[in-house]
Amino acid sequence: MTFKEQILQGIPEKLPAPKPYPADANRAPLRKDILSVEEKQLAIRNALRYFPKEWHNELAPEFAQELKDYGRIYMYRFKPDYKMYARPVEEYPAQSHQAAAIMLMIQNNLDPEVAQHPEELITYGGNGAVFQNWAQYLLTMKYLATMTDEQTLNLYSGHPMGLFPSSKNAPRVVVTNGLVIPNYSKPDHWEKFNALGVSQYGQMTAGSFMYIGPQGIVHGTTITVMNAFRKILKKGETAAGKIFLTAGLGGMSGAQPKAGNIAGCISICAEVNPKAATKRHKQGWVDLLIDNMDELIARVKKAQADEEVVSIAYIGNVVDVWERFDKEDIYVHVGSDQTSLHIPWTGGYYPVGVEFEESNRMIREEPEQFKVKVQESLRRHAAAVNNHTAKGTYFFDYGNAFLLEASRAGADIMAENGIDFRYSSYVQDILGPMCFDYGFGPFRWVCTSGKPEDLDRTDQIAMEVLQKIMENSPEEIQLQMQDNITWIKEAKQNKMVVGSQARILYADAEGRAKIAQAFNDAIAKGEIGNVVLGRDHHDVSGTDSPFRETSNIYDGSKFTADMAIQNVIGDSFRGATWVSIHNGGGVGWGEVMNGGFGMVLDGTPEAENRLKSMLFYDVNNGIARRSWARNEEALFAIKREMKRRPDLKVTIPNLVDDALLDGLFE
Ligand SMILES: NC(=O)c1ccc[n+]([C@@H]2O[C@H](COP(=O)([O-])OP(=O)(O)OC[C@H]3O[C@@H](n4cnc5c(N)ncnc54)[C@H](O)[C@@H]3O)[C@@H](O)[C@H]2O)c1
Repeated sequence: MTFKEQILQGIPEKLPAPKPYPADANRAPLRKDILSVEEKQLAIRNALRYFPKEWHNELAPEFAQELKDYGRIYMYRFKPDYKMYARPVEEYPAQSHQAAAIMLMIQNNLDPEVAQHPEELITYGGNGAVFQNWAQYLLTMKYLATMTDEQTLNLYSGHPMGLFPSSKNAPRVVVTNGLVIPNYSKPDHWEKFNALGVSQYGQMTAGSFMYIGPQGIVHGTTITVMNAFRKILKKGETAAGKIFLTAGLGGMSGAQPKAGNIAGCISICAEVNPKAATKRHKQGWVDLLIDNMDELIARVKKAQADEEVVSIAYIGNVVDVWERFDKEDIYVHVGSDQTSLHIPWTGGYYPVGVEFEESNRMIREEPEQFKVKVQESLRRHAAAVNNHTAKGTYFFDYGNAFLLEASRAGADIMAENGIDFRYSSYVQDILGPMCFDYGFGPFRWVCTSGKPEDLDRTDQIAMEVLQKIMENSPEEIQLQMQDNITWIKEAKQNKMVVGSQARILYADAEGRAKIAQAFNDAIAKGEIGNVVLGRDHHDVSGTDSPFRETSNIYDGSKFTADMAIQNVIGDSFRGATWVSIHNGGGVGWGEVMNGGFGMVLDGTPEAENRLKSMLFYDVNNGIARRSWARNEEALFAIKREMKRRPDLKVTIPNLVDDALLDGLFE
């Protein structure tokens, strides 16, 4: 059977043979055995509803075994045999070229080069699922291959509910992931609903098919590290010879040394797992590997003296580094941490003074004792950081729950008011005021032809557009514009493409729309093939997340989720080709609502209307909310946008004098 025939058949007519998992597969973590016997029976009943009755006798015991062995039913025997990767778009069977582009994006998110646990349909973050099982994948691809531009596919946490009649202007796909009644949004609810096969964790871009590999993280981390240095550098000073100390060389954290090099500093990244450190070194993401503390000290002093730009991976515990640097009086200019403290008890954070292997044993055999060790370590960790900040180090929380867990461990990490933390998060200090409040965020695109030449051409177009805009940019955003021009100029040589021909570029509403318009014109002229636009959910408007994306909202509304929901509804009727809204992503289930979109540009006037209408709204919805929360930069940005588009009318807050409030309630 050809690839097209296989897609069109959906669930095969003949029951495929059972398939063993490949021995070298990077398997998803074993999930909790959380269901009662009755619930396990329900999970099997749910799984079997995808298949004809005559297969049930054979499949029921196999699915029961999967549930016992892995805590989930992935239906692995139904994984197709063809190679999984983003094909050039014309290779997909389709009646709708929009649907074909979505198929390309789905396959990219399941490509073993891109995805973390492709066998279990997990793209990143350990649990960021595209689908819950292979039957959902097969059915969805068939629906996409057969649908027209007057139908919309509804995906409920990976399950294709079906094609519904709609119109050419409607999205082709509407995705919801992990949406639950708010009282049922604790992590164990996810474990249970996911095991039952009725819900999934879509992370951010996994469940919306918009993940483009490590390039997105490198760009975001570079912007963060560069701007962190800007906060402390005096006029005319550079980061040369200055130190950035942090931890973690894992999935996202592994981008830190690369970002440090681009920012031009000395970065020291501690990593307890030698395998993770060696992998990043082999990939060229970190320059040096050192596993001896004395050697590290000597090498850092040399780098300081020579004002080198170098990244060093220290194989060991980060707490040891903070403490020893304090003793040696090595001045750390910028400090952070990217251990996985959002999962502190299961290997996200390794306690100081306990060998790596011993920690792994304790996690399995003495979980309570391990928790005690983690909390002891966090208190030491915070104390060492405090010693450095007392000398002037700028420390920020990297959205990994370091401050939250340190505070829960009783570390000295609270501000004087006893409510806030002593240090800010990267969104509060850097990404929020410097990027999101002005509308800058992780815009991205994918060239559906699969041709690297098309990507080169789009890089060139984007750079020219930004350069032109910058000629008249206000001073407030000149730095951001310059950073983004530098990034796009160097993007090709940074060799960041893994999987589809994709590019990320921080841009504001004006930049995004003008770049998109220029792409659409180039498509119309036949210079390039169709382009998919999208963005990370970690952006201006798409995400309500009180400890990350909206942590710099101070009017008490950071625990509301109106912005994310308004955004997905607003995008869907302004021209998005697909929209998605998720519970969970980055900081955990129940902690965040996040949404995104995809938009296919095909060079038509209709595509031009769509991009003009939707991209403007997709950014300005969030700026409006941020300005209503009295964020100074957002107030500046929204007033500017209202001048640019007189039909935008946003409610502007009146500011209140502090003195007026004093004594009102005494
Ligand atoms: N990079 C970003 O843009 C970004 C943004 C927001 C949040 N985060 C957060 O950063 C964290 C890290 O993400 P990840 O994907 O890299 O996770 P990961 O688990 O793949 O990597 C974390 C690494 O830290 C190491 N580690 C744990 N404890 C250590 C210790 N005490 N000393 C030295 N090394 C230690 C682990 O061995 C692991 O390799 C997550 O909590 C994530 O949510 C990252």
